[in-house]
Amino acid sequence: MNTRILKPDAAALDEAAARIRAGELVGIPTETVYGLGADALNPDAVRAVFEAKGRPGDNPLIVHIARIERLAPLISAEPSPQACRLMETCWPGPLTLIFPKSDLVPLRTTGGLDTVAVRMPAHPVARELIERSGRPIAAPSGNRSGRPSPTSAQHMFEDMSGRIPLILDGGPCGVGVESTVLDVTGPVPRVLRPGGVSPERVAEICGACEVDDAVLRPLGENERPRSPGMKYRHYAPEGELTIFRGDSEAVARAIRAAYDRAEAEDSEPLILALEENLPRYGARRVRSLGTGAAQAAQRIFAMLREADALGAKRIFSEAVDAEGIGLAVMNRLGRAAAFHIVDVGEAARL
Ligand code: TXA
Ligand code: MG
Repeated sequence: MNTRILKPDAAALDEAAARIRAGELVGIPTETVYGLGADALNPDAVRAVFEAKGRPGDNPLIVHIARIERLAPLISAEPSPQACRLMETCWPGPLTLIFPKSDLVPLRTTGGLDTVAVRMPAHPVARELIERSGRPIAAPSGNRSGRPSPTSAQHMFEDMSGRIPLILDGGPCGVGVESTVLDVTGPVPRVLRPGGVSPERVAEICGACEVDDAVLRPLGENERPRSPGMKYRHYAPEGELTIFRGDSEAVARAIRAAYDRAEAEDSEPLILALEENLPRYGARRVRSLGTGAAQAAQRIFAMLREADALGAKRIFSEAVDAEGIGLAVMNRLGRAAAFHIVDVGEAARL
């Protein structure tokens, strides 16, 4: 199959919408990452999504809608007042909510769960496609399973070329990490995956917010994850990634030493550092994560892909503060590093 990247003009949107209705897969830009879209209510289309990604069948998909009236048919209980406040405040946007599912939603879409994850994306191309297709669109991130999520049409093409007919090119993604997955089925909202909407923001809106503690550590051997996505290896570059956390001068010293050892072993190392710290690494090979957590979020997946493209066998990254969207960055970095995090210096604490 020849995969085309198209500018999302009216003709391309009509073609993409017709393909969704016909049960085919389309690459879709969203404000978080590119998604691999299919008709969420068509089990065969959804099966094709799992196949194209190489994704385990028990890892459920997020269902995307463009209008609030489309929610009721997908769920089997009234949303709580908290959920309603969250939808009013954060939709459209990078927030996914978990609800009890209705019979309309195939079990294949929810990975066999009796709950469904729903999000209303903010990206105009995603919204327009959902509207034109007239279907709720199931869309996991458009990477091959285990790879960094795509934040440009080109990245999605790298992973999906030959597997899907069409990718709509909506430019680079503004948020850069995926949506926050929030369980709103209990009394206090609980973050299962940190993302574009911070726990601090959820707490402002709802009065409280819990963060599942599996967000910043590996799952224990017999531990049952609250979200199936927690148990799978993710976002991993081919090189071995280590994160250094703590006082920034001490971190730079530790990274320089690790880099120099790796270079002596021909591991073609690469450093990922915040913009303000770049001078600390001299002539070593280093890429900038930008000036703070929001820029780091925009760049993190592209950096992990670039590390692969450069053939880096060892990657050393500075940590960012795990606050606001920084929690999502540290979750993605941590998982990409299999939680290999070195605490250095005095401020070596989360
Ligand atoms: O920003 C995003 O959310 C992107 C764009 C394309 O919208 N999509 C995305 O989908 O990141 P995906 O499939 O890569 O991640 C969905 C996550 C997985 O970790 C999955 O386990 C979790 O959401 N999830 C989905 N349905 C769930 C459910 N019913 N209960 C718990 N977790 C669920
Ligand atoms: Mg994903």
